[in-house]
Amino acid sequence: MYVDNDPLVLAHARALLTSSPQGRTAYLDCDLLQPEQILSSPEVRTTLDLSQPVALTLIAVLHFVPDEADPLGVVRRLLEELPSGSYLALSQVTNDFDAEAIGQLAETYRDRGIAAQPRSRAEVARFVDGLELVEPGIVAAHRWRPDAAVDHGLLDEQVSVLAALARKP
Ligand SMILES: C[S@@+](CC[C@H](N)C(=O)[O-])C[C@H]1O[C@@H](n2cnc3c(N)ncnc32)[C@H](O)[C@@H]1O
Repeated sequence: MYVDNDPLVLAHARALLTSSPQGRTAYLDCDLLQPEQILSSPEVRTTLDLSQPVALTLIAVLHFVPDEADPLGVVRRLLEELPSGSYLALSQVTNDFDAEAIGQLAETYRDRGIAAQPRSRAEVARFVDGLELVEPGIVAAHRWRPDAAVDHGLLDEQVSVLAALARKP
C-alpha cells in the first residue's frame, strides 16, 4: 500500500504498482498529513488486513513535514490503528553530522517552495517513543545492519540520513 501526493509519482505508481498472484498492491493519492483520510480509504481497507501486524514505512518522507504540521501526531495516529507486533521503519535527513551543508540543502528546498526539515537524532527518537527500538537503534542509514561484505567507505556526513526500526509492543 503506497501513499503519495505527487501526481508524477502517482503516474509511476499507476504503471508499476499492479497486483499479481503473489500479492495485492495499491496506491493512494493522499497527503500524509491526512491520516484519517488514509486510514478510512477503501484502498487501505481492502488491501491491508489491519488485524495482523503491518510494517509502516516512512522512508525519506518525514523531512518534508515541518514540526508545525505535527508529524509526531500523524505518526502516532497511523500507529494507533496498527496491532501489536507491527513495525515502524523510518529514515530522515539529519543535520547531526554536517549542520552547515544540510542547512544549506534545506534552505535550497525551502527557497523552491518545498518544506524541508532536517532533524537531530534526539528529534528522530521522538517518532519511536513508546516503541521497542530494534538494534542497532537510530543510526546513520548505512550503519543499519550493512551487509558484512560491503564496505563503501562512506562517512556519516556523506549520508546524513538517520534510519530506525521499531516494534509496537
Ligand atoms: C524521497 S521520496 C521517498 C519515496 C518512498 N518513501 C521511497 O522510499 O521510495 C519522498 C516522497 O514523499 C512524497 N511526499 C512528500 N511530502 C508528502 C506528503 N505530505 N504527503 C504524501 N507524500 C509526500 C513525495 O512526493 C516523494 O514522492
